[in-house]
Order: sequence, then C-alpha cells, then structure tokens
Amino acid sequence: MPSSDLAPQALSHRLKRRIKQWLGPQGVFLEGFLRHPVMVGSIIPSSRFTIDRMLAPVDWDNCRLFVEYGPGVGTFCRPVLDRLRRDGQLIVIDTNPDFIDYLRRTITDSRFVAVHGSAADVEAIVRAHGHDHADYVLSGLPFSTLPEGVGPAIAAATHRVLRSGGAFLVYQFTARAQALKARYFRRIDKAIEWRNVPPCFLSWGWKDADPAD
Ligand SMILES: C[S@@+](CC[C@H](N)C(=O)[O-])C[C@H]1O[C@@H](n2cnc3c(N)ncnc32)[C@H](O)[C@@H]1O
Repeated sequence: MPSSDLAPQALSHRLKRRIKQWLGPQGVFLEGFLRHPVMVGSIIPSSRFTIDRMLAPVDWDNCRLFVEYGPGVGTFCRPVLDRLRRDGQLIVIDTNPDFIDYLRRTITDSRFVAVHGSAADVEAIVRAHGHDHADYVLSGLPFSTLPEGVGPAIAAATHRVLRSGGAFLVYQFTARAQALKARYFRRIDKAIEWRNVPPCFLSWGWKDADPAD
C-alpha cells in the first residue's frame, strides 16, 4: 500500500481510539453494539434508576452467589459488588469476548469472575466455580432477538440452577421474556421503569420452595 494511503488510515484509527477513550465504558458498549447489534440489543447501558429498582428486592445477607447474564461493560457489576457480602461471589457470563476482556481489565475485586460463554451453560459454569446453586440470577439479555430456542433453554437452565427462595431478575425492552419466565416461575413480580432509554420492563421470578415447582 502506498505510504500516502496509510496516513488517512492511521488518522482515522487514532481518531476512533480518541473518541472511544473520551466515551469511556459507553464507547466500549457502543462499539460492541455496532459489531453485534442483534446480540447486544441496545445502544445505551441501563440507567441508575433501573439498577436500583431491579436490585432492591434482593436479600443481600443471604446471597452468596449472584450470577449476571450479559453484563456488557459492567453497568450492574459495580452496584452488585457494592451490595454483595464480603464472602460472596459475582459470576458474569457474556458471549462477547471484548466485553469480558474489558471487565477483567477494569474490575479487580476478588469476588468477581467474568466468564466468556453463553448463559445457556450456566449450570456447568456455576459448578465449575464450586457452587451447587445460585441465589440470584440477573439478566440483561435481549430475549426477543436471541437465536431460536436459546431463550427457552436459558429460562429452563436458570430455573434449575436457582436455589429455592432465589429469584430470576430480568430487565427487557419488550415483555417477551415475561411470557417465557411464566413457564417456569409461578410467582412473578412486574414493573416498568420509565427512567431508562428506552423505558424497560422489569420482572422478578421467585423460585418457590414447593418441590413441584
Ligand atoms: C442489552 S446488553 C446488556 C447491557 C448491560 N447489562 C446494561 O445493563 O447496560 C445484552 C448483553 O447480552 C450479551 N449476550 C447476548 N447473548 C448472550 C448469551 N446467550 N449469553 C450471555 N450473554 C449474551 C451481549 O453480548 C450483551 O453484552
């Protein structure tokens, strides 16, 4: 390539890097969306109102293992770690290697584990980290755009991996995941958070102690 073609290319590369640095985590998230729009499903991370409301019903004293699906750039990770007991663990699972790499570089808390993989494999991942069950599972997955069959497989695996009394916390831009959850969770609390771009549906599916559940 002639050296005259390299100059504009290098300039555009430098400019992109500068914009990404200036945007911080939002830039990493935006880049993830531009590369994998269907899997990421959103252009802006969740608002602090969504985070606080979603996490409010969690019984933190009795939470030893918190699992998060689709952490992106960690919008929920820090608030979860702020609330989590000192001997607790937060395992996050994301299919996007760039997000996992970013999280491993930026969150150094010893209770934090970032796994590159699919939420459908949550049971194997939880077992590999020495746990039988999770106390809570949080999901920011775009259920409506996941490949055929993946959403139901994740909902079923989540119900199996949760302990009795635990909950599946979901935030979504469509109500689709709520119908999916209703197959596995008999007790589901619901809300809408308007102070999010766009507004989102929140739900908490509780796994009852009932052996038939
Ligand atoms: C809407 S973004 C979530 C953003 C972030 N949690 C927030 O609060 O702003 C959805 C995330 O789900 C991830 N994802 C998509 N399919 C997945 C799967 N099967 N298992 C785990 N993560 C997945 C994407 O890579 C992306 O990071």
